[in-house]
Amino acid sequence: MKTYLVTGGSGFIGSNFVRQMLQNDTNCHIVNLDKLTYAGNPANLVDIEMDERYSFVHGDICDTDVVRQIFHQHKPQIIINFAAETHVDRSIGSPDDFIKTDVFGVFTLLEASKEFGVDLFLQISTDEVYGSIAEGSFCEGDPLLPSSPYSASKAGGDRLAYSYYVTYNLPVIITRASNNYGPFQYPEKLISLFVTNALEDRDLPVYGDGKNVRDWLYVSDHCSAVHFIIENGKLGEVYNVGGGNELQNIHITHQILEQLGKSADLIKFVEDRKGHDLRYSLDCSKLNQLGWMPEHSFDEALAETIHWYQSNEAWWAPIKSGEFKEYYKSHYNMAYEGE
Ligand SMILES: NC(=O)c1ccc[n+]([C@@H]2O[C@H](COP(=O)([O-])OP(=O)(O)OC[C@H]3O[C@@H](n4cnc5c(N)ncnc54)[C@H](O)[C@@H]3O)[C@@H](O)[C@H]2O)c1
Repeated sequence: MKTYLVTGGSGFIGSNFVRQMLQNDTNCHIVNLDKLTYAGNPANLVDIEMDERYSFVHGDICDTDVVRQIFHQHKPQIIINFAAETHVDRSIGSPDDFIKTDVFGVFTLLEASKEFGVDLFLQISTDEVYGSIAEGSFCEGDPLLPSSPYSASKAGGDRLAYSYYVTYNLPVIITRASNNYGPFQYPEKLISLFVTNALEDRDLPVYGDGKNVRDWLYVSDHCSAVHFIIENGKLGEVYNVGGGNELQNIHITHQILEQLGKSADLIKFVEDRKGHDLRYSLDCSKLNQLGWMPEHSFDEALAETIHWYQSNEAWWAPIKSGEFKEYYKSHYNMAYEGE
């Protein structure tokens, strides 16, 4: 039996990964270390919390004592670090926690992995570390030019993990994925925010002219890529993970409104994000040649995602009535409750 330490397993991608892992591998034990920040939600894993192959530890990846205690007690062989502060907009307002978790937290996990020994340390990085690209696509060897405190701190964690491979021979692999969407995404990111706002007949705040391009990756495809890389990835390597769906934000906005039968009048163009990267694009041929391809088309997976938010208001409505509401009002300078 393999023991996995999954950090940030109560967040969006982490919770999808934990569920998928337990479905695919009957002979595993997963320890989920999560601080339960505003983005971490025990409700994301309520269906599996009694599974005897699953353990939850409420704690901070920056806390050396907690991390060492987990390594001592559970002796995980595979570490998958999803834990991070992840929202670019929040990183612009208050970068502190991004530096702590996305750099120092990675350091704490790497140190414990070095001390106790592991078979694999998988650092979940992001396409945002490359920065914006006007034409063409980034390959894994291209220089990093992050432009937000979020992407800069992720680049720090990404390169720190690599340095432990080179310097200490720690078995590290790094993945850089594009924008994810799907069930259980905190409703502050483009698709989860716009779908839930549209369901509530609220305005959809589109930055600038809406022409920013992102590559969209369905979360279950991201999880299957992580699983594939654990099995087949080469130590010391970086793998880009993309969905092959480059789309403008405004295109997705219209697609959401059309599927929900809502008026385009809900679109509200707002002042652009500071330092807003125009386009992200990944060359994923390295991972594709190794044998992994995404399985979902954007249109089908977006339709499934919209359907999930329609059917799971009980999951997102409490979130949108709490901390989120204050953040939203101050960030977009927009009334939230029909004010
Ligand atoms: N969402 C995307 O589009 C995307 C794309 C590429 C890469 N990534 C990366 O994937 C990972 C997961 O992203 P997500 O969208 O699921 O994030 P998320 O914000 O939904 O979840 C992050 C989780 O980490 C936990 N966490 C935060 N700080 C912590 C700390 N100090 N100690 C322990 N737990 C902590 C939170 O409680 C939460 O459960 C991140 O590393 C992110 O950079 C995300």
